[in-house]
Amino acid sequence: MTSKTLIIGACGQIGSELTRALREIHGKDQVIASDIKESNPEIVASGPFEIIDAKDYEEIKHCVEKYNVKTIYLMAALLSATGEKYPEKAWDLNMTTLFNVLNLAKNKVIETVFWPSSIAVFGPSTPKSNTPQHTIMEPTTVYGITKQVGERWCEYYHKNYGVDVRSLRYPGIISWRTKPGGGTTDYAVEIYHKAIEAGSYTCFLSENTSLPMMYMDDAVQATLQLMNANSADLSIWSSYNLAAISFTPAEIADSIKKIIPDFKVEYAPDFRQNIADSWPNSIDDSLARTDWNWSHTFNLDAITQEMLQKLDKKALI
Ligand code: SER
Repeated sequence: MTSKTLIIGACGQIGSELTRALREIHGKDQVIASDIKESNPEIVASGPFEIIDAKDYEEIKHCVEKYNVKTIYLMAALLSATGEKYPEKAWDLNMTTLFNVLNLAKNKVIETVFWPSSIAVFGPSTPKSNTPQHTIMEPTTVYGITKQVGERWCEYYHKNYGVDVRSLRYPGIISWRTKPGGGTTDYAVEIYHKAIEAGSYTCFLSENTSLPMMYMDDAVQATLQLMNANSADLSIWSSYNLAAISFTPAEIADSIKKIIPDFKVEYAPDFRQNIADSWPNSIDDSLARTDWNWSHTFNLDAITQEMLQKLDKKALI
C-alpha cells in the first residue's frame, strides 16, 4: 500500500484548497480529508473523508493506520479574532492538536508534518516594516501565543527527536472558494463578497491599516514547495517568514473600484483593529526565497480581478 497524506481541518479555508491541490497531483485516493464535521460538501464528495476530533491522539492514529498515512497537514485552528472570544478553547485546540501530530511523528507513526504559523506570532514591540525572520516576538493575542509557542515546539521536536516538521508564517490569505472564519485579515475576503452582493462594505479595520496578504494560489504553491524541498536546504525549523504583498483597506477598495466604479466603503473599526495594529505591515521573507526558491505571483490588482471574476462573472460586464 502506498503512503498517503492526511489533511486535518480539510473543510476550512486553506485546508480545502490544499486537499484539492494534493488530490490533483497525487490522485484522490492518496489524500485523506478530515474535519470535526462535514462542513464542506465538495471536499467530502471528492475523495476519502473521515470525521476526526484532532484533540484525540487515538482518533488520528486510527485513521493514520487505516490508510497508511505518512504525512499530516494540520490545518485545524481557532484564529485570532475567535481566539480572543474563547481564549482557553483556542489554547486547548491549537496546542493539543499540534502535540498530537508532533507525537505521532516522534513515535514514528508518521514521517512528515506541515503546521501553519502566522504573522500573529509578532506583536507591538516587533519592527513593523520588513519584519525579519529573527526578531522580537511578543504576541498579544491568544492565537499569536499559540503560534509562537507552537513554533518553539516544532523546532524542539526537530532538534531533539529528528521530527520533519515544516512550517510557514502565513500572512492574511485571500480566496474565493471557502470563506475564512474568525480571523483579523478576513475583511480582505468579505470585501469582495460584499462588493458583488451589495456594492458596499463596512470595514472592521480603519482605512490605513496595512497588513501582509497573499492570494490562495500563492499560499498553496508556497506550502507545496516547502514540503517538496530537500531537508538539507532548509535553515529554519521553527517557521519561515512568508510574504507576497501588503495593502490597506483603502487600497483594496481602490482596486475594486477600477472594476466596480460605484463601490462604496465605510469604516467602523472594532476590537480587531487592536489585533491588526499589533501585527507587522510587511515581512522580510528572503530566507524562503533563497532556501527553497519562493516567489509570489499575484499582486493586488491581479487578486481583485480573479476574486471578482470567480465570485461573479457578471461583475466584469
Ligand atoms: N489570517 C489570520 C487571522 O487573521 C492570521 O494568521 O487570524
